[in-house]
Amino acid sequence: MSDLKSFAYGLPKAELHLHLEGTLEPELKFELAARNGIELAEKTVEDVRATYNFTDLTSFLAVYYPAMQVLQTADDFHDLAWAYLLKAKENGVVHVEMFFDPQAHTSRGVPFENVISGYRRAAVRAQDELGVSAELILCFLRDFSAEYAMATLMEALPYKQWIVGVGLDSDERDNPPAKFAAVFTRAKAEGFFLTMHCDIDQVGSIDNIRTVIEEIAVDRIDHGTNIVEDDSLVELVKAKGLGLTTCPVSNSFVTEQMKSDEIVGLLRRGVRVMLNSDDPAYFGAYVADNYVALAEQAELTSKDLVQLAINSFEASWLPAGRRAAYIEQVRDYARSQGIDLPA
Ligand code: ADE
Ligand code: ZN
Repeated sequence: MSDLKSFAYGLPKAELHLHLEGTLEPELKFELAARNGIELAEKTVEDVRATYNFTDLTSFLAVYYPAMQVLQTADDFHDLAWAYLLKAKENGVVHVEMFFDPQAHTSRGVPFENVISGYRRAAVRAQDELGVSAELILCFLRDFSAEYAMATLMEALPYKQWIVGVGLDSDERDNPPAKFAAVFTRAKAEGFFLTMHCDIDQVGSIDNIRTVIEEIAVDRIDHGTNIVEDDSLVELVKAKGLGLTTCPVSNSFVTEQMKSDEIVGLLRRGVRVMLNSDDPAYFGAYVADNYVALAEQAELTSKDLVQLAINSFEASWLPAGRRAAYIEQVRDYARSQGIDLPA
């Protein structure tokens, strides 16, 4: 392992932008298909990977959703999340806030209960067996109606203590954040933290980001690096201390580049950016691989990687005391690697 890779893997970090359904590796897809008696069009792992030719968000989502048909029972959801959490541990993740898409399952007849109970079981097990803290964020699919989102929120309320926040994902085109204003107002009143995807280079990216901050009043933004086009938005994000959950390797699949200039530019301007994997099974890179890829592309120093890891905790939804304890863990790691940090 290179020095950079071992440093990046060992660095304690939080992952804040990770879709559990995006961790479905082809090998597990075959196992779950066999378990549930589902015949897949692809016969080998190579066949599955051959379908991964994405040019934008829409073409990615067209491959992503059909794959989920293999997920049926609570055990299936548990096994998916557990496989990810083992990888997270290897990647130096000590805390993760994981997205899940209940409507991708309830819309095809799978009960909400199967989804949440399987994922929750894996999250509890991660703390007990791996020492990895794991929380769940319920995402609404923005290409479904606001009414369906509200009904999903109502269905989730009995499980409120298992869900730290709500998010918004899927295809941003023609589905602006304002469509879900009432759902997010209700979610906030129920005590959930709020985040929304502001995907890269969308039609109306800048307007959508402004709405997400000023009208929805989110606690964090997923992606959001298009703020570089508008200095007043950069200042607003800084003033509010909002975290931007960037995903460099994912960016290189759904656009033509990692957007390293944007991410690093924001880091240098003091915006709370950190690195995440998004859908690692599809983009071939878990979170530490994202640290390595950006460091190589943008010639980052180990001190920069330490700042990104500190940002990952600062932008997390952990209580202040736990956040501070994890940041101390990062600083101890940095010192143990001979990095000189200001007190
Ligand atoms: N669902 C899974 N990954 C996503 C992404 N990057 N943007 C929007 N929806 C998603
Ligand atoms: Zn995402």
